[in-house]
This record gives sequence, C-alpha cells and structure tokens, in this order.
Amino acid sequence: MSTLNVNDREYSVDVDPGTPVLWALRDTLGMTGTKFGCGAALCGACTVHLNGQAIRSCVTPISAAAGKKITTIEAATSGGDRVGSAVHAAWVKHDVAQCGYCQSGQIMSAIAFLKSLPRGNQPTASEIDSAMAGNICRCGTYARIRVAVADAAKALA
Ligand code: FES
Repeated sequence: MSTLNVNDREYSVDVDPGTPVLWALRDTLGMTGTKFGCGAALCGACTVHLNGQAIRSCVTPISAAAGKKITTIEAATSGGDRVGSAVHAAWVKHDVAQCGYCQSGQIMSAIAFLKSLPRGNQPTASEIDSAMAGNICRCGTYARIRVAVADAAKALA
C-alpha cells in the first residue's frame, strides 16, 4: 500500500510502487483529466505537477511521488489557484482547444511555466514556445496556446 498526496488530499493506493503516476491517477483514483499520449515522456499529454514542477506522469513511478504533492488538472483549474484560473480563463477566451486531447497537459505546462516567472514578467513568444516545446498538439493549436499564455501572463502582472 502506498500513500499519494493528490490535490492536497491523501490517498492509499494498493498498486505496485513501480506503477506510473498516470495509471494510479486514472485507473485507481478515477481522475481521468490527465491523458495517456505516448507512454514515453515524448508528447506531454500526461503532464501533472510534482511539488510544483511539471513532470511526465506516464514515466514517473508512484515511488518517486512519495512524500510529495501531485497536482492534476482537476485541481489546477478549479478556481483555487490564481495562476491556474488565469490560464483557464485565457484558454477559454482564445478558444484554444481543438480536439482537446493534449490540452490538460498543455495547461499544466503553461501553469508551471508562469509560476516559474518572476511576478510581472511578460514572456516573449520564443520563451513561451520553448517552455511549451515538450507538449505536442496534433491539431496544431500552437498559435492559440502562445497567445493564451501571453494573455494569462498579462492578467497575472
Ligand atoms: Fe487536439 Fe491538441 S487540441 S491534440
């Protein structure tokens, strides 16, 4: 039995310690907002935060999350997080999603990026592109993602 702290709640999960965080979230805890994309840390669809850092949950075993805080899309955009709310609002305003599959991962990467900036810092387009480069979108929503991240940064300034 392992204990996972997810979205500020403790959960006991009866899975092998080598189980990827993604599957503990989706299959054991029923939090399906985090998506399975490639299973090899290449596409970013499975991005969650571990102690505030964006990680690929498909290749991170639950043993690596022991004693740490996992934050998922379910909490990040639920209104209790200032940066999460700004990113969520910008995503809606700019109608970023197309099929939507990659978008929870995109949003989690955008939130981690904006939280890493000094308050008031307005990232350039190339800084945004490089921060978001690990998240692939098969629908090609990159231009809207860039605008939405910039807009969220402005709203947070
Ligand atoms: Fe379809 Fe990104 S919106 S994969």
